Amino acid sequence: MRIIIIAAIAQNGVIGTAKGEMPWHVKEEFAHFKSTTLGSPIIMGRKTFETLGKPLKGRLNIIITRSESFPSIEETLIQNSLLSAIDHCNKNNYEKIFIIGGREIYTQAIPLADEMILSFMKFKAEGEILFPEYDENDWRKTDERNLEQFSVVYFVRKGKN
Ligand SMILES: NC(=O)c1ccc[n+]([C@@H]2O[C@H](COP(=O)([O-])OP(=O)(O)OC[C@H]3O[C@@H](n4cnc5c(N)ncnc54)[C@H](OP(=O)(O)O)[C@@H]3O)[C@@H](O)[C@H]2O)c1
Repeated sequence: MRIIIIAAIAQNGVIGTAKGEMPWHVKEEFAHFKSTTLGSPIIMGRKTFETLGKPLKGRLNIIITRSESFPSIEETLIQNSLLSAIDHCNKNNYEKIFIIGGREIYTQAIPLADEMILSFMKFKAEGEILFPEYDENDWRKTDERNLEQFSVVYFVRKGKN
């Protein structure tokens, strides 16, 4: 099973605001996110789920929270750690799973991920939440798609195919 991080990052590293908002709305980037993740589980932190407000359709939404009383919502699975979420997906033989944020979950997922699909936005954004630092030497670029407002870069961890 491939563990894939997917994120959109402004030129100044921003991925979101402290209030939980996405600081930009770029339709083509949402479309890229949707077409890439459709049909596969998506794993997110509780704060990111609250930003979305409702589960994203056509994908198993797995929400990570330490809370024991998080309300169960249709089409979602609640897990108390990132590792238990990954374990659940492994047992269910998914070919790939996507880690969709936010910062706390990305931070924990970077050492575990096999691939990263990063949209580098061509502008700076206002916001307090940054994509975590990662060691570029650990990753090999396999592809890049250049669009008007962002470039999508595909990375595979060195040593993986
Ligand atoms: N640009 C992008 O691609 C992108 C993507 C996603 C999100 N975002 C942005 O990122 C921001 C949210 O990121 P964030 O770092 O503040 O929050 P987050 O990672 O979405 O969620 C954090 C929460 O996840 C739970 N959690 C984290 N680690 C856990 C663990 N090991 N075990 C159990 N639960 C764990 C905790 O929930 P409890 O407090 O309930 O225990 C924690 O408060 C927002 O601004 C959002 O818009 C941007």
